[in-house]
Amino acid sequence: MLGGSTGEAQKQPTAPIPAQTIRFTVPVVETPGIFVIARWVWALVRLLVLLPVRAPVTVALVVSSALILDSGGWVPLAASWTIAVAVLVLWWWRWPHTFCTRVALPALAKWRWLTNYRRHWQPVLVVAGLAESYQERRYLPRIRRVTCTEWADRVRVKIVPGTTPEDFQTRVDALAHGFAAPSCRVHVNGARDVTLEFPRRDTLAEPLDALPVHSPVDLRGVAMGRTEEGDTWRLRLHGTHVLTVGVTGAGKGSVIWSAIRALTPAIGDGSVQVWAIDPKRMELSYGRPLFAHYADSGESAVDLLEQAVARMQERAARYAGKQRTHTPSPTDPFVVVVVDEVAFLTAYHPDRDVRRRAENAIATLTSQGRSVGVCVLAALQDPRKEVMNLRNLFPDKIALRLDEASQVDMVLGEGARERGANAHLIDPYLPGVGFVKLEGSPVPVRVRAAFVTDEDIAAMAAQGLSSGREVER
Ligand SMILES: Nc1ncnc2c1ncn2[C@@H]1O[C@H](COP(=O)(O)OP(=O)(O)OP(=O)(O)O)[C@@H](O)[C@H]1O
Ligand SMILES: [Mg+2]
Repeated sequence: MLGGSTGEAQKQPTAPIPAQTIRFTVPVVETPGIFVIARWVWALVRLLVLLPVRAPVTVALVVSSALILDSGGWVPLAASWTIAVAVLVLWWWRWPHTFCTRVALPALAKWRWLTNYRRHWQPVLVVAGLAESYQERRYLPRIRRVTCTEWADRVRVKIVPGTTPEDFQTRVDALAHGFAAPSCRVHVNGARDVTLEFPRRDTLAEPLDALPVHSPVDLRGVAMGRTEEGDTWRLRLHGTHVLTVGVTGAGKGSVIWSAIRALTPAIGDGSVQVWAIDPKRMELSYGRPLFAHYADSGESAVDLLEQAVARMQERAARYAGKQRTHTPSPTDPFVVVVVDEVAFLTAYHPDRDVRRRAENAIATLTSQGRSVGVCVLAALQDPRKEVMNLRNLFPDKIALRLDEASQVDMVLGEGARERGANAHLIDPYLPGVGFVKLEGSPVPVRVRAAFVTDEDIAAMAAQGLSSGREVER
């Protein structure tokens, strides 16, 4: 009869519970005083035991000063301090590098830990949504170590289970703001181990002179400029295509010219050819002797692109069934098709036929040229789809200064802005500065291209690197 009784019960209207009968009582549990005192004693003992390990230099200074003061008084103490300071000054003067790495930077790291990261850690992480609450310290990521390089603070963090390194990568703006840094980047060391990098100054503020040219040329990473960390920024050209995007004056020219400059020895020995399209007639015309082919009008540019397609297809037919990769040589050179302001051909040219042919040719080169030794290196001002719907055919992209925040992800891929690629905030007075994604890492890296002056280009061209090369219009 269970079923019957249940049915009956269901039919019964439930009587509303009078409001005054609902009572919540929060039990007040008082911690016994003995436990509170035991906790304080434990914290004090722990502090005293750990202090010599955590701050050995400070402890040694305090203890030795106290001993000298106790045994000899103020005069020996002042003399000892004067000698200690003199030794440090001598060290700094004679061996500034070791002084910096052994004394100045570790001391700065302690200071930054104390006054910035330790102090603001919990509120910043809670507000950024990376820690649970003000009470629950168990759900607070733990600072493992703070170190300082010459230009940045590096905070190594043990993250709590349930959060991921990506959670930090998507909150870099909040972290940078919270710790009063211009930006923040997240390096993943392991599943629960990340390093947050907060720059203290802009290492890319000064323009970079044209880099020295090295031979033989490494086409898997030509030297373009410098990364924010002070390394050489290298750009792969063989086996990829590169699109550089930036507003007018962002420094696209310096990216193109840094790449061409790095290629000059290979242009000289014939293992690399640069085919240049220069609709503005300003950017590339200076280096015409370096180019195997040159075009500056819509029609000639399309002819050049279609010639490159024909060259590529002839090569593909020759390689079919025999070889799968291209090795640059004077008989089969690596072809770099440089297109300045590619939207002139794909969107702005008044002749519809020119636009259609240019788009077809660029699409064919970028989709099939990689393995047969053809690379397209293009520059563009406006990355929107209606202007350039081929941008996804370029595996590598460089975002120089952009107009709008929404354009960052258009250029560098989804999530790039959240990971700190604030290309729309690049200072207009820093041309050549931009963000790139280096191979194997989703974290965008801030870089600056070297500035190749007109004199550098004239010198490169005057070296006769392309003597005997055909120049077309
Ligand atoms: N890497 C750099 N370092 C320092 N200054 C630079 C750098 N690149 C460019 N500049 C300066 O900025 C100016 C504009 O650069 P550039 O002509 O390369 O911009 P752009 O992006 O090609 O602009 P546009 O789309 O109008 O052609 C240059 O004349 C030069 O003075
Ligand atoms: Mg330009």
